[in-house]
Amino acid sequence: MAASKKVFVKTFGCQMNVYDSERIGEALGRAGYLATAAIEEADMVVLNTCHIREKAAEKVYSELGRIRQLKVRRQQQGKQTLVAVAGCVAQAEGSEIVRRAPVVDLVVGPQSYHRLGELVARASREGRPQIETQFPLESKFAGLPRRRSTQRASAFLTVQEGCDKFCTFCVVPYTRGAEYSRPVAEIEAEARQLVEGGARELTLLGQNVNAYRGNGPDGVRWSLAQLLGRLAGIDGLERLRYTTSHPGDMLDDLIAAHGRMAKLMPHLHLPFQSGSDRILEAMNRKHSAADYLALIGRLRAARPDLALSTDIIVGFPGETEHDFAATLALAEAVGFAQAYAFKWSSRPGTPASTFGGAVPEPEKDRRLERLQRLLGRQQTSFNTACVGRVMPVLFERPGQRPGQIVGRSPYLQAVHAQGTPQHIGGYLDVEILSAGPNSLSGLILQPGRGSYGAESRAMC
Ligand code: SAH
Ligand code: SF4
Ligand code: F3S
Repeated sequence: MAASKKVFVKTFGCQMNVYDSERIGEALGRAGYLATAAIEEADMVVLNTCHIREKAAEKVYSELGRIRQLKVRRQQQGKQTLVAVAGCVAQAEGSEIVRRAPVVDLVVGPQSYHRLGELVARASREGRPQIETQFPLESKFAGLPRRRSTQRASAFLTVQEGCDKFCTFCVVPYTRGAEYSRPVAEIEAEARQLVEGGARELTLLGQNVNAYRGNGPDGVRWSLAQLLGRLAGIDGLERLRYTTSHPGDMLDDLIAAHGRMAKLMPHLHLPFQSGSDRILEAMNRKHSAADYLALIGRLRAARPDLALSTDIIVGFPGETEHDFAATLALAEAVGFAQAYAFKWSSRPGTPASTFGGAVPEPEKDRRLERLQRLLGRQQTSFNTACVGRVMPVLFERPGQRPGQIVGRSPYLQAVHAQGTPQHIGGYLDVEILSAGPNSLSGLILQPGRGSYGAESRAMC
């Protein structure tokens, strides 16, 4: 269909939403919409939302307030604007969204993006809000169009969705539904489309990606390690990553893959949430602090230079100073390259929202600040240890300063260098000259893979 209308998509939340937004754009492309980066000229605005913490969910409503004004302005010019709310707030709140924000024409949950074309047509035709928050029986992936070339060196690819873990603080099992793994052949076909479109790195995504168990071409279920092995065979694909993992699903074959699979990057995001066994139990994490440390030991034995990142929650109901000290101690014992720390946020419908023992807000703030100081020190020291090394960097985009380009190291650090637009998309050796808390700077040497690899396993 010829593209005649424009759509503006704004993404909140995690990488899975970033991926979904691309797919939403592709699905709407099939319905005649062309993507625009200018909201004022959009005939349709899609907010792809996140429900993980209260602040994330509330952002959507302030955004909808601004969109209401835009819609009125455009109406005065005789133009229509269709407003859609997608993602996890859509799934969690459904018709409540339309009640709170009547500007919304369409509410669509994460499992129904393949139906967007028909939903948009129905919303325009009937002139009343459409709410689609079912978990349809058919897979949305099979109903979505082919991948468009993103022209980006690094691409996301969702391989698993949903979660069966039910951590007591978390909305994901309710907003994304039960665990589902895409078949290997479907993923491989999409990976090849992305690589043909210019991707040299793929990050496999799942709310619980290492629980991946997808139908293999041989009719049996494949593990994530098997899937990675298959994708590593794609010519032109240089790097593989995956996120996010649960410690309980970190099985032997995946740990071993980190030691032997050259294309699998030496970085792992492995949330531990708390260092206190009492709190881990209340969170229903199904692992102890000692389990986590033992797992890190096995991972580092397989891949000594593995860079680790994590998620941590402070101020979970009932968390004492003693519990918090255990969190600091676990972070100290592991030494993270990077980490996200959050204050616990009570989410409607989760078991933890009914737990007693609330930690006062100022105390949560104090704990967050102490933890962030420690994590900041660890990140800076990890980055500083990289100075003087040569490592291959996949350049992804122009930087903010003239002549600057930005890419990622194998350990997922942002790396800045002076380069030309031709270097973007390049996989180049860079000598690291300096390090800051959030990034490295270096000098491009020459195309190639550099000294990094099996021979050079010094920890950054
Ligand atoms: N599936 C991933 C993470 C999903 S959400 C995993 O299991 O690791 C990303 C992070 O948000 C979580 O790891 C957790 O640290 C944080 N988070 C989730 N719910 C939260 C809540 N109610 N309050 C504060 N942080 C939360
Ligand atoms: Fe949420 Fe826990 Fe599932 Fe992660 S494993 S998505 S934190 S319920
Ligand atoms: Fe947010 Fe949903 Fe992702 S709640 S973190 S957008 S899975």
